[in-house]
Amino acid sequence: MHKKLFIPGPIEVSPEILKAMGTPMIGHRMPEYAQLHKGVTDKLKQLMFTKERVFLSTSSAFGAMEGAVRNLVGKRCANFCNGAFSDKWHNVTLACGKEADAFKVAWGEPITPELVDSALATGKYDAITLIHNETSTGVMSPLPEIAQVLKKYPEVVSIIDTVSSMSALKLPVDELGIDCCVFGVQKAFALPPGLAVFTASEKALERAKGVPGRGYYFDFLEFLAADEKNNTPSTPCISLIYAMDLQLERIFAEGLEKRWERHAKMAEFMRAWVKEHGFGLFPAEGYRSVTLTCASNDRGVDLGLMKKQLGERGFAFDDGYGKIKGKTFRVAHMGDMQLENLKEITTEMEGILQGL
Ligand SMILES: Cc1ncc(COP(=O)(O)O)c(C=O)c1O
Repeated sequence: MHKKLFIPGPIEVSPEILKAMGTPMIGHRMPEYAQLHKGVTDKLKQLMFTKERVFLSTSSAFGAMEGAVRNLVGKRCANFCNGAFSDKWHNVTLACGKEADAFKVAWGEPITPELVDSALATGKYDAITLIHNETSTGVMSPLPEIAQVLKKYPEVVSIIDTVSSMSALKLPVDELGIDCCVFGVQKAFALPPGLAVFTASEKALERAKGVPGRGYYFDFLEFLAADEKNNTPSTPCISLIYAMDLQLERIFAEGLEKRWERHAKMAEFMRAWVKEHGFGLFPAEGYRSVTLTCASNDRGVDLGLMKKQLGERGFAFDDGYGKIKGKTFRVAHMGDMQLENLKEITTEMEGILQGL
């Protein structure tokens, strides 16, 4: 039995998208690919409100996230950490041989503009990593306010993970001044995993030129040279790029404003449901994600049992990530999902809760 995915990625993929993945294969050095590539990157630029380069990486998000630090950290990196993925990014930065410091706040809390300001005011850093939407805790940090602070530090290259938020709300990359914005496609884009997208500003590309040890597979300058020919340095995941092309068409057909509104409504519904059913909201007030709700298990429910019973009813449910497993649960509301779909799982959860 297929379990309908309500975990925060991968997300349920529509049959039309799966069908698009079956489009007959083309060679990536054929003109047909260049046409597909240009169409997809142009649409992505429109979606992300950017005129900068948009690159397609055949990897999961962490490939591009690792690539970003390899290419863009010259002197020292400030990694802002408020959950499992941002903690991991710090470890990845160190594993790439970079000098880096982690600025950690408690899980459930956002990264604040004040924290970013105080770190950068030391003058020690020429790059930062920050996760907009920490999927492990359901916290969305205030990116527009942080972006204002970043404008005070033109020597700093900003590397921002929008892995689980891009397309679900307005994130105007150029206006925010993001130098490198990274996301994977298995979250709010509702595509199968295996493709990551990243932007690179002029400043980012200039930085990359002076940074040694960029490697090959994620070398931004290789991506730049290939992009001149509407291509990628290595063989890309063409089937997924076909799927992305169709998904972008579907996103624009729905309308961006409507898409953002749909995500906001689903988030409101889920937060209200959590409170009405005796649970709490794990993220600090005012910093709650629009793409997933992370609930604190205030009722002390056996979440493992809940997950098992939901599984038997055909629903994939997440009983918390990393050190907050069992203490929290997460329900995703992103991608192609509609409010009615979300109500399917909450109705099942209500039934199960009565019996627990
Ligand atoms: C915010 C965030 N960043 C990074 C990742 C890592 O993505 P991937 O597993 O695609 O490399 C995830 C995965 O859930 C995520 O939620």
